[in-house]
Amino acid sequence: MDAPFPSGLPFPTAAYLVLYLVTLWVHIAFMNYVLAGSATLAAGLVVGGRAAKEHPICALLRDWMPFMLSAAITAGIAPLLFLQVLYKEQFYTANLLLFFRWMAILPALILGFYLGYLLKKEPAPGRGRGGRIALGIAVFACFAFVGWSWVENHLLSVQPEECWKEHYVSGAHLYASPELLPRLLLWFVAGFPTMALMVGWQLWDRGRRGKGDPADGARAGSAIGLAGVVVSALWAWRYFYLLSDAAQKIVSGPAGRLYLLLSIAGGAIELVAFAALLRRGRWSPGWLALGSAGLVANFVGTGVMNETIRLVTLDGTVGLPLLFARHAASWKVAGFPVFLFFLALNVGLMAFCVRRVRRLPN
Ligand code: HEM
Repeated sequence: MDAPFPSGLPFPTAAYLVLYLVTLWVHIAFMNYVLAGSATLAAGLVVGGRAAKEHPICALLRDWMPFMLSAAITAGIAPLLFLQVLYKEQFYTANLLLFFRWMAILPALILGFYLGYLLKKEPAPGRGRGGRIALGIAVFACFAFVGWSWVENHLLSVQPEECWKEHYVSGAHLYASPELLPRLLLWFVAGFPTMALMVGWQLWDRGRRGKGDPADGARAGSAIGLAGVVVSALWAWRYFYLLSDAAQKIVSGPAGRLYLLLSIAGGAIELVAFAALLRRGRWSPGWLALGSAGLVANFVGTGVMNETIRLVTLDGTVGLPLLFARHAASWKVAGFPVFLFFLALNVGLMAFCVRRVRRLPN
């Protein structure tokens, strides 16, 4: 695994990894919106009071939160399926060992979903501010809990078999690792630039259709994006030193270097775009497109580095030849045309629904 992805990998493995990563990026974009968006809403309720409530970004986030959560959940299914093909035993074993803890994400998602609708509702006159603040924090807490669960599961899944056995024998429901909190924090802060770009496109589109002004929320949104890029870059740097020596070598070695540079370049492009938007004080499609191109580069760089680390880690435990042989066997099962058919069908249906809703007068 010295060559940069995908060279050096057998075709079925490379193909499953590409499908996994592409579908995961879609999930991550919506998940970032939900996680960073609910944190922004909660912070707005705590510090901003009425002014924050009427702020265009908060109003938009409140309005879209339930839809974006549905999109994050739906978009999580495809990478979940590819993940199981890629890392059969590793993924299932971690799931089973964390079973009760893991299943708790379902009530948390249901609760977060309905509380998100309550947040949209106008509070009854005379109702205290405390209740709204508690509601905003509860929505964020539900999503943060789900994010924590995924990080916990990921970290357990890349451990060697002896560690799973120890975990099972100990009877623990939680998996504690020194990497857990820093990794969760990295996912959290990295969500803000994505959320700022998505909100930027939405507000720009609203302005373009005469339903708002292209300046709505532009300064606050680009400032959030700018701060998100800077803080996540600094935290990623710190996180690098928490990785194992082997993982650090992969990231800075020939297999990871190209993608590390891509990830840094993507972050730098986003920074330039947010700075320009902040200076202009209006959403502009050119700068938003540049920022989005930077985001895609950053997603590709970071995603590939993450998978390269996972493959090299698993090489030391299960061994890559066994994984490659399993991927080759799965590839022969021939479900791919069915996947492509349903992908096209569902994308078409979603585009149709979004078009219909956008045409509604309000
Ligand atoms: C509010 C809801 C959600 C949040 C905040 C969230 C958050 C996250 C986070 C933080 C990760 C990164 C884990 C890591 O690599 O350390 C992740 C990965 C992932 N999520 Fe989500 N998630 C949500 C819902 C879902 C749902 C409902 C599904 C499935 C239907 C899903 C599928 C996935 C998959 C397959 C991965 C990749 C896991 C891995 O590579 O180990 N997510 N999610």
